[in-house]
Amino acid sequence: MATAASEAIKEPCKAPLKEPPLVKGLPFLGNALDMAKDPGRFFYECYRKHGPVFKLKVMSNTYTVLAGAEAANFMGTREGRDSLRSKEFWQGLVDEWGASRTLTGEDGETHQKLRAVMKHGYSKESLKGRYDELVEITDKVIARDWPVGQMVPVVQNMQYIVTEQLGAMLTGTSPREYVADIRTTILYILNILVTRQRPKFMLKDPRYKYAKSRVSELGQRMIAQYEAGKADRDPARRNLVDDVMEAHARDPDLIPRSDLILSLTGPFVAGLDTVANTVSGFIYAVLKNPDVLRRVQADADALFAKGSIDEANVRNELPNIDGAIMEAMRVYTIAVAQMRTATRDFGFLGYQVRENELLYVATAVPHYMEEFYPNPDTFDIDRYAKPRAEHLKPGAYSPYGRGTHTCLGKTLAEVQMALSMARLFYKLDLELESPDYMLETKVLPTPGPSMKFKVRVKGIRH
Ligand code: HEM
Repeated sequence: MATAASEAIKEPCKAPLKEPPLVKGLPFLGNALDMAKDPGRFFYECYRKHGPVFKLKVMSNTYTVLAGAEAANFMGTREGRDSLRSKEFWQGLVDEWGASRTLTGEDGETHQKLRAVMKHGYSKESLKGRYDELVEITDKVIARDWPVGQMVPVVQNMQYIVTEQLGAMLTGTSPREYVADIRTTILYILNILVTRQRPKFMLKDPRYKYAKSRVSELGQRMIAQYEAGKADRDPARRNLVDDVMEAHARDPDLIPRSDLILSLTGPFVAGLDTVANTVSGFIYAVLKNPDVLRRVQADADALFAKGSIDEANVRNELPNIDGAIMEAMRVYTIAVAQMRTATRDFGFLGYQVRENELLYVATAVPHYMEEFYPNPDTFDIDRYAKPRAEHLKPGAYSPYGRGTHTCLGKTLAEVQMALSMARLFYKLDLELESPDYMLETKVLPTPGPSMKFKVRVKGIRH
């Protein structure tokens, strides 16, 4: 059956295709400043002004933007899959690590094979029986980094919680002493090699070189630990490292030795900023809305009154926390657009897209739209429960991307965010600097609350 999105691409048969309008920008910089301020809002404003397809310039590059619900739906269709590829955007990262490929940069059969290798390691099955351990890890970091009476830096502190959890869940290794290096490496790689918003010579910065060598060391350590312990590995505790290392031994063409470090440290790159930024937005919005705070605390108190917890508890018994996480992902969307290259000439909603054009597929534009989310600027955690279920309209909600590259860590991220927020608000009484405090945001390397955002730890609740 033809979908709205597949109709969108067939339209060229009916009428001649139009050239997408070029969004006005500054000489040389093009639209770089607008993009640097708030790319999600900028894509939304361009969509309102120019429609669902337009072009913009960022320094010397021209991008075609496909925006809105139709664009989000298009990514999940066969036409979308055949018309878009990811390679170019990730090639700089692959080359930087001397690797041959990475999951995010592959398409077609190789991508499917790599996803199959990593699927278990990123799944909720890999967390089975380990929820209390996750709580323990979270408690330790809270006790260390959130002292009573102090103003604490939220994004940075959340990055430490997230990294410790990811290390334990995905790799069995706590990368605590490498967190700063992982953060620096991500910052440079995303800014310079992936989104290309910073010049290439910055890769020569000794701070980056040192951080990258440390991340490499972390990867080597993970390989050495795997080799040393593989004979008496507990099958119930299989993790991503086991899956990647075994696939390397089985099929070295798919995962050659040169790709191991990137594959093994990849989860930190994929999970650190995304989760830490989202939960930092959550913390701000919850503290800004006293009624939401009360409901979040009620969820958390009921969950931990049980003592030991499991997956079903976390997934089913935190309705207010879940609503607030979904709303944080809508309001503080991390991936406002997915970057692709056109594999062929095609028409989209009557506009011409040409082979090899660089594309932004601005899937998050509907997050800002009144048509999908009435009063879109209000933080409303009841949007997602039935009967409202505003996110279920086709193309309305895409925090984890769309199509073949949809976030592989989604389930894990959901558990991680729900558990961390439940535990933080169970343990601590937090407040904003002042009730009229307004959140500052940052854009690089990924959109989210500013690193300067701090909250006061007023006291201990439990
Ligand atoms: C709030 C949390 C998260 C958000 C908003 C998020 C968002 C995304 C998005 C938008 C993509 C698609 C990128 C594209 O199409 O180009 C993606 C891919 C991916 N994410 Fe996440 N992510 C989150 C957390 C995580 C976590 C915790 C992990 C793992 C530890 C993870 C692992 C991955 C992987 C491996 C991919 C690549 C999938 C592929 O290329 O097939 N993500 N994520």
